This record gives sequence, C-alpha cells and structure tokens, in this order.
Amino acid sequence: MRLAGSFSLATTKIVTSAIVIVAFGLLLSFSTWIAAKEPLMNPELMEKLAGEPVVNVGSDGLLVQLPEDTPELISTGVALYGKYCSVCHGSNLQGQTNWQIADEFGLLPAPPHDATGHTWHHADDQLFEIVKYGPAVAMRDPDYRSRMPAFESLLADDEILSILLYLRSTWPKIQRQWQKGANEAQTGNQWWRKETTDTSEH
Ligand code: HEC
Repeated sequence: MRLAGSFSLATTKIVTSAIVIVAFGLLLSFSTWIAAKEPLMNPELMEKLAGEPVVNVGSDGLLVQLPEDTPELISTGVALYGKYCSVCHGSNLQGQTNWQIADEFGLLPAPPHDATGHTWHHADDQLFEIVKYGPAVAMRDPDYRSRMPAFESLLADDEILSILLYLRSTWPKIQRQWQKGANEAQTGNQWWRKETTDTSEH
C-alpha cells in the first residue's frame, strides 16, 4: 500500500511537471506568434526617429510619396481598383451610403474616394499605410476596428501607389492642392530632410 501511495505521488509529480512544461511551451509560442504579428519596423530607423513627432514618420518609418501622374500607372490603378477596392468603395468611387455613420457593430461603412469623401485630406504616406497595413496600424491604434482590409499580402507597393495615383487623378484642383498641403505638412519636418537640407527653406 505504501509503495502504491508513493508511486502515485511520483506519477502526480511527473504529470504536474509535464503540464507545467507544456503550458510554458504554449505560452512561449503564443508570445512569439504575437510578436511576429507586430507591424514590421526597422529597429535602427526607429531608434533614430526616437523623439521625433510620430505623425511625421508613419508606422513603418518609411516615407512614401506618390509619383507624378502617368497614363500607364493610372490605367494600372483603374484595373486594380476595380478588382480589389470597388466592391466596398464603389465602382464610381462613391463609397457606401451613410459612410459617416457607424453601423450596429460600431464599424464605419466604406467612404467615397472622390472629392465628396475624405481620402484627399490625408498625405500620400498615410494613404499608402492605410491600404498596405490597414487603418489600425496606420493610426497606431491596435484597438481600432475597421472593415478596411490590409492589402500587404495581396498588392505590391507599386500596385498600391498606382491605385492611389488613380484616386488622386480624379480629384479637382482644390482637393489636389489640399492633399499637396497635407504632404508638405508631413514631409516638412522629416529627420532625413533635417540632416541633408537646411530646414529654414520649409
Ligand atoms: C471590405 C471592404 C473594403 C475593401 C475591399 C476596401 N476598403 Fe478601403 N475602407 C473600407 C472601410 C469600411 C473604410 C473606413 C475605415 C474605417 O473604419 O475608418 C475604408 C477606408 C479606406 C481609406 C481611408 C479613407 C479615409 O478617408 O480615411 C482608404 C485610403 C481606403 N479605404 C483605400 C482602399 C483601397 C485602395 C482599396 C483597394 C485596394 C480598399 N480600400 C478596399 C472598406 C474597404
């Protein structure tokens, strides 16, 4: 009886240790998985940017700017928009109805991308990040919930740019000028400009 008692005690100890080891392993792989899901950031860049106003650097520390309009890029953008975006944002860029009012799940409908919308309020880099990483990452707010998908795994960077170029090409002069101002507000204070040029000219 004594023998059986100490045997089951040993078994219990082994089983408990096994559970602890497995649980620890699970915790470790879970945290690695979470860490892997963090947006990619260049640690060196981030260190360099420490102390700079976050609004100026975006979430990936890279500044993306739209190229000049070219008919080729715009027509690529039209095709890609039709394939990936029009289902929500509308085939005429008109967005969904009541796009400014959150639905019963607290989520916003897709806004228009034409001059009646809001897209032209944002600088190139912000638009690029919204499309590539999704609004939560672009806004640096992990709790922000949205129906807008991240297109990082579906579209190459230059494909995203061509879509944005198409959107920009539809904006009247006033909206284009406003958006240019948003770009200047963002880039006027970039660290790489500070290092390489005299900021007094901005
Ligand atoms: C499944 C629906 C859906 C698809 C597909 C989609 N979007 Fe969106 N998009 C949204 C919603 C909803 C929002 C509003 C985001 C929010 O919740 O704040 C949005 C917001 C945006 C914004 C921000 C606009 C602003 O004024 O702030 C941009 C830019 C954008 N989408 C571009 C695109 C592009 C480009 C594509 C295609 C590559 C695309 N979207 C595909 C649903 C979608």
